[in-house]
Amino acid sequence: MMKNRLVLMGVSATLLLGSATAYAEDSVEQAINYRSALMEVMVWNMKQMGAMLKGKKPFEQATFARRARDLNATSHLDILAGFPEDSVDDDSDARDEIWLDWENFTTKLDNMRNKSEALARAAASGETEAVRSSFSELGKACKSCHKAFRK
Ligand code: HEC
Repeated sequence: MMKNRLVLMGVSATLLLGSATAYAEDSVEQAINYRSALMEVMVWNMKQMGAMLKGKKPFEQATFARRARDLNATSHLDILAGFPEDSVDDDSDARDEIWLDWENFTTKLDNMRNKSEALARAAASGETEAVRSSFSELGKACKSCHKAFRK
């Protein structure tokens, strides 16, 4: 009887450990999907605006302002929730430096949020020069983080 209970305890401990590992892998994959999706939303809006600024698409003030507003809203979502500690795998381009230098990573995120806010404001006011310069500033903020923290 005693022996059976010990065996059973051993079995359930193994099951628990097994599912905890599966959960961890699952949640890493979900975090990577989540952060990639947010990045994709931002780049789509960047490209739409870029095409208008370069004259590849007709410049429409209201549409441009909408793209800038959506990008700004996305940048203010909980992006850090998509970067739980050590959430790396073969499908991801995230570098370990993110968690080794978390403060620098979050500073770059805050910087992007400030720049996207500035762009949204400029786009709403429609001042062409301010739009152009804040668009370029935002692009630099994206690149600066990618350079340091993306493979
Ligand atoms: C605070 C750092 C940081 C900022 C700021 C940032 N990114 Fe990223 N971005 C990353 C990291 C890290 C990855 C790699 C994620 C991965 O592969 O797991 C990434 C990945 C991407 C990807 C690839 C997504 C995919 O499909 O996997 C795109 C596109 C992208 N970023 C666009 C942008 C744009 C556009 C901006 C600016 C508006 C931006 N990012 C700002 C850190 C940042």
